[in-house]
Amino acid sequence: MNIVLLGPPGAGKGTQAKKISEYYSLPHISTGDILRENISNNTALGLKAKSYMSIGELVPDELLITIIRERLSRSDCSKGFLLDGYPRTVPQADALQMILTEAEKKLDVVLNIDVSDEELIKRMSGRRVCGTCGASYHLVFNPPKKDMICDKCGGKLLQREDDKPEAIRNRLMVYKKQTQPLIEYYAKKGILRTVDGGKDIQQIFEDIKKILENYD
Ligand code: AP5
Ligand code: MG
Repeated sequence: MNIVLLGPPGAGKGTQAKKISEYYSLPHISTGDILRENISNNTALGLKAKSYMSIGELVPDELLITIIRERLSRSDCSKGFLLDGYPRTVPQADALQMILTEAEKKLDVVLNIDVSDEELIKRMSGRRVCGTCGASYHLVFNPPKKDMICDKCGGKLLQREDDKPEAIRNRLMVYKKQTQPLIEYYAKKGILRTVDGGKDIQQIFEDIKKILENYD
């Protein structure tokens, strides 16, 4: 199965992607995670991306298209993949289509996670992520067992720089302008399925499984 997870910042793409990728054994490709890893490793790409990400702007399309082209060519994607955070603009979606056509592949389904702005703000403001393994928590909705310590690896939990109020506001604006048009883009192609992302984490996953049953 070749899946794209679409949705505004804080919708729960990463949370659901983790569950989907474990359940269906698909590689979880999060462009946000790839960029953050490059920033922590001080790579040339990380240096370029940092100034955009910290203020909640999108990183230029050509950088993302290069990342995705390389990542999708790896052997672990031969039986399917799960994209989280890509595409985010129409040029990125067009490039994805070209990359897949060249590889004689196609997208099966685009899962659009729909959440109200008010809820998105709550989710992003309360999010904490493990500085060591990247696991994601929420102070209220999905707290760790020990205060500010990762359940999985014992690492320290941190707040993402772009989860501060000003960057959150900008990310929501950027989403509406540049990414929201992709809902229509994929609806026209007949592969969009919208999920109510306002429910609890497990219920959303059950809803997603019901949709994905049709694509096995
Ligand atoms: P990225 O890392 O992709 O961030 P995002 O799209 O802004 O989305 P988030 O990761 O913030 O949210 P999410 O939907 O994954 O939610 P999560 O599961 O964590 O991108 C970051 C930046 O990188 C971009 O701003 C851009 O600069 C750059 N970038 C990345 N890709 C790019 C691209 N293709 N082109 C250009 N630039 C790109 O959940 C959020 C919180 O809510 C967590 O605390 C979680 O525990 C909690 N939660 C989740 N589900 C629920 C639920 N059902 N109920 C209650 N709480 C919940
Ligand atoms: Mg994410």
